[in-house]
Amino acid sequence: MQIKPFLTEQFFALYEFTAPHVLASSDCETTSIAELLELSGGSLKEFGELKLGYTESQGNPEYRRLVAEMYGNVEADDVVILTSPVEGIYLAMQTLLDASDEVIALSPAYDALHHVADHLCGKMQSWELVPTETGWEMDLERLESLVNSKTQLIIVNFPHNPCGYQPTPDEFEQLVEIARRNDCWLFCDEIYRGLETEWQLKPTLPSAADVYEKAIVLHGLSKTYGLPGLRAGWLIVRDKMVREQLIGWKHYTTICPAAPTEYLSIQALSVRDQLADRNREIVRANLLICTEFMKRHSALFRWRPPTAGSTGLVEIDFVRLNAGKTKVFANATDYCHDLAQKHGVLLLPGACLGCDDRFVRIGLGRSGFPIALAAWEATLLPSGDVS
Ligand SMILES: Cc1ncc(COP(=O)(O)O)c(C=O)c1O
Repeated sequence: MQIKPFLTEQFFALYEFTAPHVLASSDCETTSIAELLELSGGSLKEFGELKLGYTESQGNPEYRRLVAEMYGNVEADDVVILTSPVEGIYLAMQTLLDASDEVIALSPAYDALHHVADHLCGKMQSWELVPTETGWEMDLERLESLVNSKTQLIIVNFPHNPCGYQPTPDEFEQLVEIARRNDCWLFCDEIYRGLETEWQLKPTLPSAADVYEKAIVLHGLSKTYGLPGLRAGWLIVRDKMVREQLIGWKHYTTICPAAPTEYLSIQALSVRDQLADRNREIVRANLLICTEFMKRHSALFRWRPPTAGSTGLVEIDFVRLNAGKTKVFANATDYCHDLAQKHGVLLLPGACLGCDDRFVRIGLGRSGFPIALAAWEATLLPSGDVS
């Protein structure tokens, strides 16, 4: 049996490293090893002297201690260090699911969150985020109607990729309550945690790991901290038996984290607030620019600005976009390929993430965003006919 294709990776593979104007990324601005070590007070010499032996399967104890500090109710023993955040999705699903299980997954979603579970379980049900005039909503009544005694797992992701949605603490509590009442596991992907763009107005959600004993939480350094090339991530698994089974699966994937990554991750965690502050500021500034852009082009695009995370979805009115053009676009996928190939502007078709094919994902975390956005805007002017 073949797993569904990872459309986001397939699309990025075509253009990510050649398109000059990358507007689709979900990660935030990155940093060099030298800059990171300067910020953390570490030394390149010490890094150079690191031995490249095997490391502990569950992860370096100091690394796990620093991770546990980020939560209110988590011990270093509850932390499993991964060889990449995406590995955590695979390990958790392998551990929790078999063919007799049903799964409910918030949709749209990062490909792996749906496909790995869908591949393993008996029945996967999508629980759709609902678009409103200005944002997105979670339909908790709908969730109640989907859940039943065979539901083993509910999969969510907050802050949400691609919608930039974050529930209120009250809504989040109700969601956890539904999981608890039905004795379901809750996989909460919190990889964009800390990127609350309205953080002064909205309280940050508690981590699912702090409020629900049957939660498995994913986080890492790729997005908020801008270090995706480190491939650093972790799971919080408070249930000892499940954690041991999960580490058992890890022996068949990566055995143990990479030693250089562990070293640099410890450095990064020691300055995590500085790294996150810088990226929150980038997202905030880009969001203002993006909102102005969307106002200028409100006839073509409906913009539901993210309230958290580094991404948002743009809904395109193709009738208007195509009006008077020599080449018409059938859908967002068609449009994104054309923009990337002819103009070097990279937006991600929302269809890769399970959205209707009139949405594109835009990423707000990079410092090159204003220039890339201007390149997109140039294609929208009468002289910049996209075809
Ligand atoms: C919601 C979500 N979870 C997990 C991941 C995986 O992160 P990484 O690519 O750093 O392994 C991503 C990456 O885009 C993501 O958006």
